[in-house]
Amino acid sequence: MTSPTERLEVLTADALEKIRSAADEPGLEAVEKTVLGRKGDWAQLMRGIGALAPEERGPFGKAVNAAKEQIARLLEERREAFVGERLAQEMGDASFDPSEPAVPVATGHLHPITRVRREVEAIFLSMGFDVVDGPEVETERFNFDLLNIPPAHPARDLQDTFWLENGQVLRTHTSPVQLRAMIARGGKAPVRVIAPGRVFRNEQPDRTHEHTFHQVEGLMVDEGVSVADMKGVLGMFLSRLFGKDVEVRLRPHYFPFVEPGFELDMRPVDRKHGERDEWLEMLGCGMVHPTVLRAGGLDPERVSGFAFGMGLDRVAMMRHGIDDLRWMMSGDLRFLQQF
Ligand code: DAH
Repeated sequence: MTSPTERLEVLTADALEKIRSAADEPGLEAVEKTVLGRKGDWAQLMRGIGALAPEERGPFGKAVNAAKEQIARLLEERREAFVGERLAQEMGDASFDPSEPAVPVATGHLHPITRVRREVEAIFLSMGFDVVDGPEVETERFNFDLLNIPPAHPARDLQDTFWLENGQVLRTHTSPVQLRAMIARGGKAPVRVIAPGRVFRNEQPDRTHEHTFHQVEGLMVDEGVSVADMKGVLGMFLSRLFGKDVEVRLRPHYFPFVEPGFELDMRPVDRKHGERDEWLEMLGCGMVHPTVLRAGGLDPERVSGFAFGMGLDRVAMMRHGIDDLRWMMSGDLRFLQQF
């Protein structure tokens, strides 16, 4: 009977020979399976280790490992050779040029306005506001009447309106969602909501006007809400949105649905160096008009609130230095791919 050591030598020589004479990659794989497989001669050899004297087992194990390493090295060498041959063949094939740059994979990204909207939502959510939605096709009542803009009111002319044949309108602002939010909460305070969305105006488009643009409406109603609360919340919101310390100031302005009404300006400040940028007009706001609170089912004797409306397109334009609003809804890839 041959000793395990002799048997190892025979098996190793045989394996090396088979690997050297493998004709191609599949052939090589077949050899690998028989040599290293569980059922092959090698597995049997390992089981024979129990028959050896205890002091022989260590050296024998080492010899087996060395043989396996030798086999693995040769397998790898041959495999690389086969792969090299295959590549050389493919490169020689005129229909395939491996040096050609790969076709870039086109990945999409979010529109700059979507990004601004999501940031606005995240900031207000963190301040305890809900994000709500309203219809883009609105009734005249909600878009105008209940917001204290009766038919003959000159404010109607300020917002050129798309009227539908059924007497409804494409909403000219997000303000009607204020009412819908108050009503949806059953006339109960507190109400803290923002409502971002598309709005529409029948205007001649130019660099600063579009028939379709975006606003975010905000409303906070509770007992004892004041102008100071409004200034605090909006100042905090703007400094987070722009990632800078900002100052805000209120200028009296007329909006039918608030009293008093304001335009809010902001300017970035560097308090350490006492430096201040120019004032920028940011949004319209004010204390919700008692008539509007009543229309929402709330009692103006008991609660008060502030509301605001801000254009989202303007923020995206400021951020990216875009000088023409018409790009925003253009769908033009030359524009969109820059972000
Ligand atoms: N709805 C106004 C607009 O479209 C913006 C606005 C002003 C909304 C004052 C408000 C507000 O809620 O209080 O121009």
